[in-house]
Amino acid sequence: MRFFIDTANVDEIRKAAKMGFICGVTTNPSLIAKEGRDFKEVIKEITQIVDGPISGEVISPDAAGMIAEAHDIVKIHKNMVVKVPMTAAGLEAVHELSKEGIKTNVTLVFSATQALLAARSGATYVSPFLGRLDDISTDGIALIEDIVQIFDIAGIETQIIAASIRHPMHILECAKAGADIATVPFKVLMQMIDNPLTKSGLERFQKDWDNAFHNS
Ligand code: G3P
Repeated sequence: MRFFIDTANVDEIRKAAKMGFICGVTTNPSLIAKEGRDFKEVIKEITQIVDGPISGEVISPDAAGMIAEAHDIVKIHKNMVVKVPMTAAGLEAVHELSKEGIKTNVTLVFSATQALLAARSGATYVSPFLGRLDDISTDGIALIEDIVQIFDIAGIETQIIAASIRHPMHILECAKAGADIATVPFKVLMQMIDNPLTKSGLERFQKDWDNAFHNS
């Protein structure tokens, strides 16, 4: 499983990119709005930091509007992926964009049958939101497992981006389930680095070293 970062904050993206484990970025309208910056300006800056798929989301409710927005988004940079909501209009847009060779990421996926339809419409990626399912007492990881299974059975190449990740255990479960990618908030990436035994072990190494070599 590969890692994308799920944020529109360029400082977070820069910090994560320096550590080398992210190979793409996902944004959504809420994440862009949180930054209070112009959409194109933020996206352009992100493309300069990460050389990999960068998802920018359309906001039009209709297929024609989504397609027009998609054409603008892909002009920003060659790595742009157009994020489209899982609606009838969204699938119409995905179908048209895939014929044009434009990469799409179908978002707000909450069932395996939605994922299957999106894949058959030509989506490059599907984004099942597991955290939001867990929030309503539904098993988010089971959704990832189902999508992996049905894509494997049918030989579907659409990649699964596990989204709405809330904590490191989600990452472990998604990796075990066979998700292609997890898109992870910066905070969770940092939580994955931390372990109290690493911290105390490092403190012990430092203390032993100082006692042996710096106390004479
Ligand atoms: O980017 C889409 C998704 O990851 C949103 O996550 O935490 O708002 O449910 P969340």
